[in-house]
Amino acid sequence: MEKTVRLDKFLADMGKGSRSQLREAAKKGRILVNGEPEKKTDRKIVPGTDQVVFDGIPVCYRKYEYYMLNKPQGVVSATEDSRCTTVVDLLGAGPEGDLRRDLFPVGRLDKDTEGLLILTNDGDMAHRLLSPRNHVDKVYYARVSGRLPEDAAAVMAAGMTLQDGTRVLPGKLKVLEGGENPRILLTIQEGKFHQVKRMFEALACQVVYLKRISMGPVVLDESLKPGEYRRLTGEEIRLLGGETDE
Ligand code: URA
Repeated sequence: MEKTVRLDKFLADMGKGSRSQLREAAKKGRILVNGEPEKKTDRKIVPGTDQVVFDGIPVCYRKYEYYMLNKPQGVVSATEDSRCTTVVDLLGAGPEGDLRRDLFPVGRLDKDTEGLLILTNDGDMAHRLLSPRNHVDKVYYARVSGRLPEDAAAVMAAGMTLQDGTRVLPGKLKVLEGGENPRILLTIQEGKFHQVKRMFEALACQVVYLKRISMGPVVLDESLKPGEYRRLTGEEIRLLGGETDE
């Protein structure tokens, strides 16, 4: 049987406003279903089969959406926060925005971390990317304060113990520039709280700048300035095992 959904839920999910705003819009004849003005926003429709038009523009149904954001510093990786701007606010995906309202970030970056953050409403794909059991590489670029021990790469490759006794899975360290203020790339496959920072702290160094470069097959699009975002391409979605009709 075809899956039905309430008209107001469908339009709210597609970012067209709250249920009360949609009721008002319907009263004014701004919503058409299969070519006819529809006043009852609690009626059921079949997404992808019934044609819904809002303010003269057809509303395409997409089950899942996928975006990449170049997360700037100062923004929290959450869907809502009473004090700080969230990554979802940046996409304009909240109730006031015009993107669908069920997007969430795949994992977290710290408030002061920049770089690749994927946002989606595809929970299965998010779970696959985040589960350490799936060994998905996450690559970070960092600037570090303090001299790295000679054996830093070997220590990380062996799977290290953090200062509080937590064990982490092996990581791959590439030193781009050594000395007092090294620049590095670190590849890890899990996402424990402040993991990269804590791995360097365990070597008596401090991360002073951190940016995520890639997550599995998806690499941050360097044309995106901090705060900018774009949809993932069909190819990127396929590589992640997501659903796309492109
Ligand atoms: N590791 C950290 O320490 N911070 C992040 O934001 C991501 C990984």
